[in-house]
Amino acid sequence: MRVLGIETSCDETGIAIYDSEQGLLADALHSQIALHLEYGGVVPELASRDHVRKTLPLIKQVLKQAGLDKSDIDGVAYTAGPGLIGALLVGASIGRSLAWTWAVPAVAVHHMEGHLLAPMLEDEVPEFPFIALLVSGGHTMLVQVDGVGQYSLLGDTVDDAAGEAFDKTAKLLGLGYPGGPAISKLAEQGDPGRFRFPRPMTNRPGLDFSFSGLKTFAVNTLTDNDDDPQTKADIAHAFEEAVVETMAIKCRRALEQTGLKRLVLAGGVSANRRLRQRLAQLANERGAQLYYPRPEFCTDNGAMIAYAGCLRLEGGQTEPLVIQARARWPLETLTST
Ligand code: KG4
Ligand code: ZN
Repeated sequence: MRVLGIETSCDETGIAIYDSEQGLLADALHSQIALHLEYGGVVPELASRDHVRKTLPLIKQVLKQAGLDKSDIDGVAYTAGPGLIGALLVGASIGRSLAWTWAVPAVAVHHMEGHLLAPMLEDEVPEFPFIALLVSGGHTMLVQVDGVGQYSLLGDTVDDAAGEAFDKTAKLLGLGYPGGPAISKLAEQGDPGRFRFPRPMTNRPGLDFSFSGLKTFAVNTLTDNDDDPQTKADIAHAFEEAVVETMAIKCRRALEQTGLKRLVLAGGVSANRRLRQRLAQLANERGAQLYYPRPEFCTDNGAMIAYAGCLRLEGGQTEPLVIQARARWPLETLTST
């Protein structure tokens, strides 16, 4: 089965074609970073309008790239939530309508399920069950994954998502948007010994996260010290280290609690090099295996949506003749096909 995937939940238009036998056939991405840069964050209305401009040309581009005609597509998958409602509606309207025109089934994909399954696009595929740490701009979740659609939420953030904390702290340090890669780069010049940030919610049991306090800690540290470039680099280092170490502590707990030996890291923040290194060390210590997607499939992309959609279409799931999207959509409400 050959599936066209459409991702428009936030600030990236991602389009791809996945073939259940041949794998990924084509993949294209248009990032809106330049568009939102001057505002220091995503402007929802601008995001929607840009998706309107880019989605169809990118669909044509991937068909050409794969050497396929529209009649070669057996199903259309699109992100239907969670995300920015206007942006989601662009992908859902185009995806559902194209499927109707082409007389093929359509399927609405959950954005975080896309992230969760993205490591399956790599050569070494994690077997079920596993623990997934899903860390993006809007979510921070620890999930036990027993199969496609079989998700038990073990931990969630009580305030900011991990990516959001990176973005807000980056803004505070005068770095660009998105903040994650900018902080990570600056942190490399930081002095590891200068500041130590707290590891929130690690001194009590449980697998929930809280990141908003780290941002406040960064503000206070900046105010209490000289506002020079080295101080900023030292803060970036201490902040990144605190986020990474907190995640490692919670992942260790999740592995201990469930007795599982496979850990999957996915979502935009999983592109973070320090986080990958730290979790690889943890997995090594525990005799566990760590899986993560290549960097371009950590952040938003069409390939993960085409792949997740393909699994669901093959399982018989289809979307009725309606165009619907949901800004909020709890992952645990998904079911297996
Ligand atoms: O998954 P994603 O592309 O979009 C959402 O679903 O939200 O994640 C975007 C988030 C942003 O907050 C961005 O700052 C963060 O992922 N991010 C990173 C890195 N690359 C992207 N955070 C830390 N380190 C990175 N290298
Ligand atoms: Zn995402």
